[in-house]
Amino acid sequence: MAFLMLVAALLAFLFLHLLTKKHRSYSTYNLPPGDFGIPVVGQTFSLLRSLRSNTDDQWFRARVKKYGPVSKMSVLGSPTVLLAGPAANHFIFTNENLALTQTRALRALLGRSILTLSGDELKQVRSAVQGYLRPEMVRRYVGKVDHEVRRQIKLYWVCHDTVTILPLARRLTLGVICSIVFSHEAAAIVEALAADFQFLGDAILSFPVNIPFTRFGKGMESSAKIRKAITRIAQKREDSLLQEGHAVSSTDFITHMLILRNQGAHSLTLEDIVDNVMGIIIGAHGTTSALITFMIRYLANEQDVLAQITEEQDEIADNKGTEDALTWEHVSRMKYTWKAAMETLRIVPPVFGSFRTATKDIKYQRYDIPRGWKVLAAQSITHLDSRFFNEPTKFDPSRFEKQSSIPPYSFLPFGGGPRMCPGTEFSRVEIMVVMHYLVTQFRWKLCYKDETYIKDPKPTPVFGLPVELELRRPPSTADASNAMSIQFNI
Ligand code: HEM
Repeated sequence: MAFLMLVAALLAFLFLHLLTKKHRSYSTYNLPPGDFGIPVVGQTFSLLRSLRSNTDDQWFRARVKKYGPVSKMSVLGSPTVLLAGPAANHFIFTNENLALTQTRALRALLGRSILTLSGDELKQVRSAVQGYLRPEMVRRYVGKVDHEVRRQIKLYWVCHDTVTILPLARRLTLGVICSIVFSHEAAAIVEALAADFQFLGDAILSFPVNIPFTRFGKGMESSAKIRKAITRIAQKREDSLLQEGHAVSSTDFITHMLILRNQGAHSLTLEDIVDNVMGIIIGAHGTTSALITFMIRYLANEQDVLAQITEEQDEIADNKGTEDALTWEHVSRMKYTWKAAMETLRIVPPVFGSFRTATKDIKYQRYDIPRGWKVLAAQSITHLDSRFFNEPTKFDPSRFEKQSSIPPYSFLPFGGGPRMCPGTEFSRVEIMVVMHYLVTQFRWKLCYKDETYIKDPKPTPVFGLPVELELRRPPSTADASNAMSIQFNI
């Protein structure tokens, strides 16, 4: 029923879109080869279907084979150019006339966040977010990440014979990012709003028609609930800053943004800051949980890789006290483990691609891309191309030993250019800390050896990846705080 409503809403949306669209003549343009498919619908369903069945890579490759590396099509009612290859990626990620384009749903759900702003406001927010997530700052967060990872492993992983990885990874990454963004309210936020963050994340690629019980309807409801809870915290921080001035510690993101505003670095309102908190959490949560889930999946099958990671992590564990938290120095020694993470990102990138919009008429190679058209870059096109990665479907972390052998702009899990993911360094710290405790404490076996996955649009194992868990080393007895006892009224 919900699906039928969704299809009806999509058709109505596309029909209205077509009716209201001004038609331009392109007779003087040298447009790329390709076709717009069925009127209004174009290739939308076919692309979404390929993502759902995890055959998107074959879908993109078939188009490139038929039309070459530049081709036109129609997605979500917009003429769209698919560009393939490292040169095309460089063009897309660095061209100032191609603006990052988010879905209408995301704009409605996340308001005025880094993901949706443009011009001077975007510059100010990016600079503030990058400042907060720059390597020297991230190094200071290792202790907090360590504390949250240990707390959750103790609560949800230890003493269970079977666990389902995806929901646990989602809870873990939500807890980690919240511990950085909110400090002491983090555990309570996670307890109260974990399901809402999931509804919000799920709604980003839905059709923006606010009907109850649809993905978008649920996302909007959750967005309002989350916004209300974060606004309360932000108001509290603003009051403390007014009373105590700069004496307030700026370790949480909200305080960091408020202090920067007081210094004149940006002019965001409190509401905008709240939207940006939501943007950071959504940017961090689904991506890092997908990486953890698929790394666990690969390590269950790749015993040699697991053995090498174990050697690296056991060495670190043996040389620190069991109660000691990991430090930046430990993380920087986890070189092989990070290569295994990059190999996971290469084969299963959490973000399948990104859309840009041409802000004026531009040219790529000999083709014109008219103003207002979309451009799509899909990561799998180069990640799984044997010209850049030998035996591309083979899981082989050693291919990252010689980074120089990987052509620029062929490995882009975090995007590139001025809109490149600002959370890259933070992701590394988080994934390394998680892997340290999982690999040193557990061994796991997949309950379904050949469990498939879909892209929704993030890669999602169909059963959530249940595994049989075996304790390898007991966890430390460090007294991790118990979130269940924290009360939070929203
Ligand atoms: C495995 C983990 C992650 C992956 C694969 C990933 C990937 C990406 C990609 C592909 C983009 C879009 C780049 C573009 O189209 O140009 C992006 C943007 C973004 N990411 Fe990440 N990300 C990850 C983790 C994180 C984390 C941990 C954070 C926050 C702490 C974060 C925050 C953001 C933000 C705020 C943006 C938007 C930047 C902008 O629009 O200017 N991401 N990420």
